[in-house]
Amino acid sequence: MPITPLKERPAWKALEQHRAEIGPRHLRELFAEDPTRGERLCAEAAGIYLDYSKNRITDETVRLLLQLAEESDLASRREMMFRGERINTSEGRPVLHVALRMPKGTSLVVDGVDVVAQVHEVLDRMADFARRIRSGAWTGHTGKPIRNIINIGIGGSDLGPVMAYEALRHYSRRDLTVRFVSNVDSTDLVEATRDLSAEETLFIVSSKTFGTQETLTNAHSARDWLVGQLGSEDAVAKHFAAVSTNAEKVAAFGIDTQNMFGFWDWVGGRYSMDSAIGLSTMVAIGPEHFAEMLAGFHDMDEHFRTAPLAANLPVLMGMLTVWYVNFFGVQSVGVMPYEQYLKRFPAYLQQLTMESNGKQVTLDGRTVDYDTGPVYWGEPGTNGQHSFYQLLHQGTRLIPVDLIGFGRSLNPLGRHHDILTSNVFAQAQAFAFGRSEEEVRAEGTAPEVVPHRVMPGNRPNNVLLAEVLTPRLLGTLVALYEHSVFTQGTVWNINSYDQWGVELGKVMANQIIPELESEPEPDLRHDSSTNNLIRRYRSLRA
Ligand code: F6P
Repeated sequence: MPITPLKERPAWKALEQHRAEIGPRHLRELFAEDPTRGERLCAEAAGIYLDYSKNRITDETVRLLLQLAEESDLASRREMMFRGERINTSEGRPVLHVALRMPKGTSLVVDGVDVVAQVHEVLDRMADFARRIRSGAWTGHTGKPIRNIINIGIGGSDLGPVMAYEALRHYSRRDLTVRFVSNVDSTDLVEATRDLSAEETLFIVSSKTFGTQETLTNAHSARDWLVGQLGSEDAVAKHFAAVSTNAEKVAAFGIDTQNMFGFWDWVGGRYSMDSAIGLSTMVAIGPEHFAEMLAGFHDMDEHFRTAPLAANLPVLMGMLTVWYVNFFGVQSVGVMPYEQYLKRFPAYLQQLTMESNGKQVTLDGRTVDYDTGPVYWGEPGTNGQHSFYQLLHQGTRLIPVDLIGFGRSLNPLGRHHDILTSNVFAQAQAFAFGRSEEEVRAEGTAPEVVPHRVMPGNRPNNVLLAEVLTPRLLGTLVALYEHSVFTQGTVWNINSYDQWGVELGKVMANQIIPELESEPEPDLRHDSSTNNLIRRYRSLRA
């Protein structure tokens, strides 16, 4: 049954009318009307408490948003994903990152294959490898144990591993140096290797396709560096491992497939940090902590799959984003973790959200007549407060934010954590309630300064609160956003699991490379701007 176009669904029409009623209402009023609002508009699951009371909503808004989720077939599409149906239609693939964290002993049969058994076979091999590295049993070409791990990958083969390594650094082996090289800019690799001894360095080349230009260029240069330092091609076997779905290309590169860890085309790059792509994470934090992280992912998967929509964290967060994007014209969403270890979380979310929902056609190929994925961005608190929060508080744009706080610091020090967390609550308050003209006047502000100090408020935010950042909690948090993305994509009826938009630039770069390098200057047949830039570059590189 083809789904009713979004704007024709009854709940959409009702939300349009409802928006007109909500528009003029201020959060101050909504809180004044209902003293229990802050205790009612909350939900909790798998160790994450979500306070969504400071959103521009009433109970009626929530009811209509959930009705829209239902009319968008969210429940049945969710089941299709969990069953392994080919919901990535433009690539004809299932979308099964949820299988990566299903417990050992459970089973999910897709096309006659138990994918959970496959997953655990790889996890067991990864654990064995990680233990050998961590214990020093794995020695390099000259017999020394490995002390440095460099993950080479880009996009989903980098952002997840970097984010997880930074997030879980507290749990990592401090005598291992773990670095990440992603950019084809040679500075990335040169800086990552310059102070390391090749004898003690292992490269993990992570690439789903093993065809990504940046990763292969870096991997070749890393091999040259290693062979140059150790004086023998034979060293490659002990200093290179690969994570990929493409065994042929791994072998062609010269990495022993014994040292290859596989995954499957049903794992999207941006959903792969809990697959073998997490090998560097596992080496850093150990297999037990990695298993804890997977358990956290699974906790949230189960919650998403089974909780009623009204109490379902990813559904609530996803539908609130739909509310702001489609009914308030919101263009961007900020995510501000008040936890220094989560400093790369916003960067990770950028790929997860924007590569997933940055789409302009529906599943059946029609151009959408509504907005889809917003821009996601963010910085850890409190740093952002002293940078761009000014615009969030008094600028002309409406930018909903998620503020993520914790009950405890992993590095308690004096009053630091209370000071940090007071800022989470204060910012949430200031965004929501602002400071009225009367209040500013009552503070004795000079009349001409009053307008400058008025804070309009009515700026929506979610507060997410958890006890402490553990591997399990990290898995839960990532899965929360994954399923929020799914919820949004389902309502918009788009394919959140392909990424054709990144292809064109890659093809064009491949055309241009020889034009930068060849002598004499080739016959340039681009537009006049590109031709001119190429000529100028050629004169600069000479
Ligand atoms: O260019 C985008 C992309 O295809 C991402 O989707 C992916 O995560 C990244 O490149 C890296 O791809 P691979 O893991 O195949 O090297």
